[in-house]
This record gives sequence, structure tokens and C-alpha cells, in this order.
Amino acid sequence: MPRFVFRSLFQLHGKREQGMNPLDQIVSQARADFLAASDAAALENAKALYLGKSGQITEQMKSLGKLPPEEKKVQGAVINAAKVQIETALTERRDALANAQMQTRLNAEAIDVSLPGRGRSVGGIHPVMRTWQRVEEIFRSIGFDVADGPEIETDWTNFTALNSPENHPARSMQDTFYVDGKDSQGKQLLLRTHTSPMQVRYARMNKPPIKVIAPGRTYRVDSDATHSPMFHQVEGLWIAEDISFADLKGVYLNFVKAFFETDDLQVRFRPSYFPFTEPSAEIDIAFGSGPLKGRWLEVSGSGQVHPSVVRNMGLDPEKYIGFAFGSGLERLTMLRYGVNDLRLFYEGDLRFLKQFN
Ligand code: PHE
Repeated sequence: MPRFVFRSLFQLHGKREQGMNPLDQIVSQARADFLAASDAAALENAKALYLGKSGQITEQMKSLGKLPPEEKKVQGAVINAAKVQIETALTERRDALANAQMQTRLNAEAIDVSLPGRGRSVGGIHPVMRTWQRVEEIFRSIGFDVADGPEIETDWTNFTALNSPENHPARSMQDTFYVDGKDSQGKQLLLRTHTSPMQVRYARMNKPPIKVIAPGRTYRVDSDATHSPMFHQVEGLWIAEDISFADLKGVYLNFVKAFFETDDLQVRFRPSYFPFTEPSAEIDIAFGSGPLKGRWLEVSGSGQVHPSVVRNMGLDPEKYIGFAFGSGLERLTMLRYGVNDLRLFYEGDLRFLKQFN
């Protein structure tokens, strides 16, 4: 291979230099043009200038014909070498453009694999629902059935059957939400103010002995740190031929000890009034230790079911007797976990709720 061709292989592309072989100049110019082409179409146009039908290299090839055979051979090799260099530069530029394009696409479609996945949060059980479940478990373990009733009640079941006749002042103990719609007696329907209507509903559908709890939602026009317009109660009812106040004491003491998981507490029955029980009592508890040690805390209303209510259950009050209680599930939950504001249960703040799961 002639020396100048060999040297031209190492010639940097770019400027035309003085005294340069014309073919080296063509190669140089081709490289510069290819580099200047910023996309595939521009590169193909640049290629045509050199390798196309009337491109510079093609023209050079055509001019060989006029040369004498000896020179033809030498010059042919030189032109060919230049062509190879141009083709090499072209391929390099094509690859570079393709890579750049690929890189742009990759950047545009980039997925940051270091980002933590969205995942799926694991739900938890609301503390009041946890109490609900625990209460069911405890009462089931001592033979109580668990019943469920409507939240929209009739006037009769919520009040009258429970010995609170219309216009009786006892009704004002419970501020009430009335709803549009009337029952079969033309009385306005209401959101039940307590779970006690379940006493009558359940007793009318079951034969004694009746031993049931009925947990559920209840509603009153009340709202402060210890009252919410919607809250939960669990009603308890045990009616048979010989169920006394002593049974109420035994059952309730057993319940709070199981619920709070301690024997170190006292239960007190404080005389009270409810239209549907006689005698009636508020049940208070006091823990023997812990932050609430020694303080009497009200957890439930209770009493011996009033004879009129037993009659409204469709039973003979001369034969059947028993007790009922109604405890607030929020209240039990607050005491168990040391929560001092009931509204926290309904704000849906995960920072609060997560503590229970
Ligand atoms: N229903 C009463 C209330 O909500 C509680 C209660 C239930 C009292 C059963 C006595 C017997 O305040």
C-alpha cells in the first residue's frame, strides 16, 4: 500500500489542509459532514454527496477510465481506500446517532427503580370494633347468643315498649334523631337511641330462657369529648324463671375482669333510674392499679327488667324475671387503652388508629 494512503488512515477529519491529497480532503470533508448531520435523514443526505450516484467518490471512480492501466491500478486502490474510510465513518456516525436516539428514549421513559413501590397498606381493626369482637367472644364463652337489630327503629320498640310512653318525661333522657318516614302506627321513625329495643325484639322472637347480647350502633343528639352523635352499645339480657340481680353482678364482674384482663378491679352498683328496669343501677368499676387506680368509672346502665317490659316481650312477668344492661363500647375502649377523647375514634387519623394494630 502506498505510504500516503497509509498515512491518510491516521489523518484526523476536519479542516482541509494545504497540500493534502485530494482524496484525503474528500475523506476529511465526509467525516466533517457526517459529524454535522444531527439525524439519520441528514446523514443519508451527506452520504449521497460522497457515495451516491454522482457523489464525489463515485465521480473519482468514473475518472479512472481515462488513466493508463498502470496508474489505474494504483489510483483505484487509493480511491477504494478512501471509500472504505468514508464507509467506516458513515457506519460509526450511524451507530452514534442510533445510540443517542436510544439514550434519549431511555431517559424519557426512565423508571426510577430506587423509588419505593407503592405497595398496599395493610388495614387494621378499629379499636372500637376490636372491643366489639372481644365483648362477643367473652359473652359467647358463657353461653350468650349474639343478636343484631335495626338502627332505624319504631317509636314503640325504642320507647313505648320500654316503658317510656309518649310525652313521658323519661324520653327526654335521650335526645333523638327522627328520620323521614312513619311506622305502621303512623309514628315517626327514629335512629335508635340505645340498643335496648333489642330486648323486646329478641324476646318476642325467641323462647325463654333468653340469654343474649346485642352490640351495635346507636344515635343521640350529643357531641363532646365523651359523647358522639353516633356511638356503640352492647345490650345484655338474661330472662328466665329465676335470674336475679345476683346473676347480673356475677356476669358483669366476670365480663369486666375478662375484658380488662385483670382480677385487680372492683365493681360497684350505684342506684339509678331507667324506665325499663326496676331496680336500676349504674355499674362503676375501679382498677386496683394503673393510671386510673382507685377512680370509680361508669361503664354501664343496668337493672332488673321492669314487669311491664317483660309483658311487652310477650312473657308473663309473674313467671319470668331477669336482668338487662347496656354498656358503651367507646367507653370500654377508652378505659382499656387510656384514650381520653372519644372524638379521636372518628377522626380517621391513622397516627391514632395505627397504635391499636
Ligand atoms: N339503655 C340504657 C341507656 O342507653 C342503658 C340500659 C340498658 C340500662 C339496659 C338498663 C338496662 O342509657
